[in-house]
Amino acid sequence: MSNDGVNAGRRRFLVAATSVVGAAGAVGAAVPFVGSWFPSAKAKAAGAPVKVNISKIEPGQQMVAEWRGQPVFILRRTEETLKNLTGLEGTVADPASQASEQPAYVDPKHRAIKPEILVVVGLCTHLGCAPSFRPEVAPADLGADWMGGYFCPCHGSKYDLAGRVYKAQPAPLNLPVPPHSYESDDVIVIGVDQENA
Ligand code: FES
Repeated sequence: MSNDGVNAGRRRFLVAATSVVGAAGAVGAAVPFVGSWFPSAKAKAAGAPVKVNISKIEPGQQMVAEWRGQPVFILRRTEETLKNLTGLEGTVADPASQASEQPAYVDPKHRAIKPEILVVVGLCTHLGCAPSFRPEVAPADLGADWMGGYFCPCHGSKYDLAGRVYKAQPAPLNLPVPPHSYESDDVIVIGVDQENA
């Protein structure tokens, strides 16, 4: 089987990541700040934890970090988003993430250590494309029921803003929540479990 779809998704991720960094740069000094946290290529190859300063992420905004060669979405959710998630429990396939990858110390309702900060691996659980961040409610192309989420351009899988896949999608599982912890209010460490922080 060709993996063109996966490669196409990877290219989209690179484009998306670049544009997110560009957007962050527009609101302040986030680009050099975030970039300075990344370990060397050698350390990344070894799977080292990655520290990310999240202080510049505004409510409703996300940034993309990289951990073990994978994109990691870090989203600061709004109060409205958190409320909307509660109403989606009947429409997502694995609302409590019983089958999906998620550390035990994460609050099962919000899939997060702190409700407002979502940290998920940004690779579709179908064939690994990079889902697009689509936080807007009811955009014309996604329909009136869309409450904000992630849309995979490869085969159309839809996830909510907790990374939970909707029912009857090509993707079988929620976006994985990677091991992570808080070094301080502003600094997340991806790759180190909360209990070991
Ligand atoms: S890779 Fe197929 S829907 Fe995402």
